[in-house]
Amino acid sequence: MTVIPKVKRVRGTQLLKSVCVFTLFFLSMLLIIFAMIVINDPDGWTQFMHDNSSRMISLLVCTFLLYCIVYFYYYYEDAQFLARPANIALIFLIFDVAVILSFVFGKYISIYARPSAMLALLCLFLFNRRQAIMFNFVYSLLMFVIDTYTNNFVESGWLNAMYFSLMLSFVCGTFSVFVGGAVKTRGGLLLTGTFISIPTVAIVLMLELSDLAQLGWIQVVASAGFGILGCMCSAILTLALLPVFEVMFNRLTVFRLRELTRTDAKLLLQLKTEAPGTFNHSLIVAQLAEACALALGENSELARAAAYYHDVGKLKQPDCFTENQSGYNIHDELTPELSADIIRSHTKDGYDLLVANHLPELFADVAREHHGTLPIKYFYAKALKLTGGDADVKDYSYLGPTPRSKIAAIIMIADASEAAVRSSPDRSAENVEKIVRGIIEERMDLDQFENCDITMRELTIIKQVIVAALSGVHHHRVEYPAIRFHRGGSVDEE
Ligand SMILES: [Fe+2]
Ligand SMILES: [Fe+2]
Repeated sequence: MTVIPKVKRVRGTQLLKSVCVFTLFFLSMLLIIFAMIVINDPDGWTQFMHDNSSRMISLLVCTFLLYCIVYFYYYYEDAQFLARPANIALIFLIFDVAVILSFVFGKYISIYARPSAMLALLCLFLFNRRQAIMFNFVYSLLMFVIDTYTNNFVESGWLNAMYFSLMLSFVCGTFSVFVGGAVKTRGGLLLTGTFISIPTVAIVLMLELSDLAQLGWIQVVASAGFGILGCMCSAILTLALLPVFEVMFNRLTVFRLRELTRTDAKLLLQLKTEAPGTFNHSLIVAQLAEACALALGENSELARAAAYYHDVGKLKQPDCFTENQSGYNIHDELTPELSADIIRSHTKDGYDLLVANHLPELFADVAREHHGTLPIKYFYAKALKLTGGDADVKDYSYLGPTPRSKIAAIIMIADASEAAVRSSPDRSAENVEKIVRGIIEERMDLDQFENCDITMRELTIIKQVIVAALSGVHHHRVEYPAIRFHRGGSVDEE
């Protein structure tokens, strides 16, 4: 029997809130289904509901059970997800939007034009592949239940279309998850729409060719055309809705990550112009963090993006940090206590700046945690010298917290390694290894990794990756020969 790791449980109040959100969205789905029944038959909906009361109860029970599957999926698989009511609201809001759009397209264009893969694609980019497949399965069944028990299809002969709809949602949704997983740009999403048209047309032909004599070729070709339209609409609607959900729920998608790591992104542009030294340092830390995350099987794009922003707090007083100084050092005129205060405040300032700019939570956490509770050795040593040993290390230490995620721990090590290797005159592989090992050991001695579940093996991998990368970044060039070429081909040896 497989040993299942212990899942972190959520607090009772958080669970209660998530149940309230669940109930609210279940009621909203019932309201949507009721509106569908009324719109389908404005004059006879009361009669329809009266005549089909047992079907209405079945519809209610089936919808509730399907919604429970979504809720319990999180309860058992990722209880921490339930701790934030916004998460559960987002997933059920996607269900609401998908069912409404499916109804509108099915009623006013064609059943075949339903954007069946939209929910799967939205879940893929807003959550992950596993959840996208799971929720697409639930959505396919939900639409089938709605089609079966409401007056969506009252005419005979529509049974084929209902099975088509179930098959299409399930097959195309799942295919779109596999294909869409490789998509890195918003434009690439349209190609996914084109690709999933292939199984759509196959399903249409499979279902309608058997009735060719009755339907005729024109009907079959039109149905296939509407199927392709539905696939394209799935991709286009995903493109249109993703930015809305990204902003509303502050979700990080692969597209938003790309946009945030462009050097013309607001804060990065500011860093580049106002603190060029910090900007260059951040670029190298980002490279290191990306390589380490890749080696550990963590999200490397996320690590790279978070590293770009780890020092944005320095924007408040860029000239107070060595990498942005050229000659004049303001700290020569300040007391070590004040200097340490300025230096350590860049973590809190970074956190505040990132939160104020609505950047992802992880970026803000990394900015606040990347120095943990480490002492600022330079100013502590200066204070000890000035006071004759009467200085409290706490007054010269970062305020923390210590890293709470593997990505924050990686960036903590990469950040210190880059700065230390840059300032070292000896950048041989042996010395770089010695520096990085020292940095990791010091942080372990000072309990900087106690709040994140990083292992010794992972720390060794991080060390190896950083040493290999920094030996490459700061390699010594072969000395250029001291000769100068002149117009006409003459050469001087200098
Ligand atoms: Fe920093
Ligand atoms: Fe840094």
